[in-house]
Amino acid sequence: MDRDALGAILEVYDREERFLLPILQDIQERFRHLPREALTETARYLAVPESRVFAVATFYKAFSFTPKGRKPIKVCMGTACHLRGASTLLEELERELDLSVGKTTSDGQFSLETVNCLGACALAPVFTVEDRVYGKAEGRLAEILERERKS
Ligand code: FES
Repeated sequence: MDRDALGAILEVYDREERFLLPILQDIQERFRHLPREALTETARYLAVPESRVFAVATFYKAFSFTPKGRKPIKVCMGTACHLRGASTLLEELERELDLSVGKTTSDGQFSLETVNCLGACALAPVFTVEDRVYGKAEGRLAEILERERKS
């Protein structure tokens, strides 16, 4: 873990517990996961028990203890998407990427996760790659992933 990068994150914040969540968000964004060492250091910096830091880190689905891909793929499993074939979409993505939910490709490029409603229900079923939204992508999945691989 890059300790200088962690130090740069921590020094932005006052040593107050109310900053725990934004610190964890910054660590997740910088390292694409929450390294164990960073959690210990955050607890020390804020003078809070490590158990408190771990409780927050495990509560939010946005946090991960293993590195996420550089391009996280989120598949919506919300009601509108579920009704319009989200399960099939997810199966196709798993097959195309040879990847299961919660995992990251061996080259570190993609990770796959499910979420509830991406706010684009009219395009259901929907998935995102980073912040790019793809809807009604039946038959275009391989093409989309190929473009994403190259960009
Ligand atoms: S339910 Fe999938 S985008 Fe809203």
